[in-house]
Amino acid sequence: MQFQNMNILITGGASGIGLGLAREFIAAGNTVIVCGRRNEKLAEAKKLLPTLQTLTADVQTVEGRIALRDTIVEKYPQVDILINNAGIQRRLDLQTNEPWELTESEIATNLHAPIHLSQLFVEHLKNKSNAAIMNVTSGLSFVPIAQMPVYCATKAALRSFTLSLRKQLADTSIRVIEIIPPAVNTDLGGPGLHTFGVPVEDFAKAVVSRIAAGEVEVGYGTAENSRLAFQPIVDEMFKRMNLR
Ligand SMILES: NC(=O)c1ccc[n+]([C@@H]2O[C@H](COP(=O)([O-])OP(=O)(O)OC[C@H]3O[C@@H](n4cnc5c(N)ncnc54)[C@H](OP(=O)(O)O)[C@@H]3O)[C@@H](O)[C@H]2O)c1
Repeated sequence: MQFQNMNILITGGASGIGLGLAREFIAAGNTVIVCGRRNEKLAEAKKLLPTLQTLTADVQTVEGRIALRDTIVEKYPQVDILINNAGIQRRLDLQTNEPWELTESEIATNLHAPIHLSQLFVEHLKNKSNAAIMNVTSGLSFVPIAQMPVYCATKAALRSFTLSLRKQLADTSIRVIEIIPPAVNTDLGGPGLHTFGVPVEDFAKAVVSRIAAGEVEVGYGTAENSRLAFQPIVDEMFKRMNLR
């Protein structure tokens, strides 16, 4: 896919993987807008990447997502790529009786938001000659870690949704791309929990160059191993089950 002079919105792009992707996309000659809830993180990101545009937004709520779409259409109508990257991860003991709202917020951020934002942005992106929706899933979409049961379920569901979205948009100008990270060294789940992960820079560089080369499913490291293990079976069955 062409990767110059594109206008890219990255949800949750003020830190971690989103910020790493923003850096690579800017270096390749694109304009990047990131959004998130914490203004101090947005300001830090802007300091690191002065051409970065930042927006305060909360994708966990229906109103927040609609407001984000409205702001983009009004102030940044040139946006032609949406990257659904914002996510949270919680360790959860299913034998404890914690408030349901905590689980609900994880599902809303990781699954409702990318599904809803994809739907909200299709109308806008359909008018562009070269557009894309990119969803950030996980190696845990394929094989869960039981300590984070809801997180893994949301990522498996997002992968499934992404396959359907790609099929439904096949006749449009919108390409649908899945980015599948392994453990990456970010603050996901809280500082210090992912220090064993691969460096953000290595991951982001590899992802952006593979997307530019035309790949639509991009894993890395162990996540790429999982993707490749399942891909031939899934591809074959998906074709058979989606003849129309
Ligand atoms: N790191 C890994 O090992 C790994 C592996 C596989 C997949 N992933 C996926 O990669 C994506 C990025 O995660 P990361 O590792 O880069 O972690 P991160 O550094 O914690 O980044 C997550 C970003 O999402 C934003 N965010 C969270 N809730 C939001 C909301 N309601 N509205 C708007 N923004 C929100 C956060 O900003 P605010 O808190 O300021 O809103 C933060 O900037 C996630 O989808 C994650 O599941 C990560």
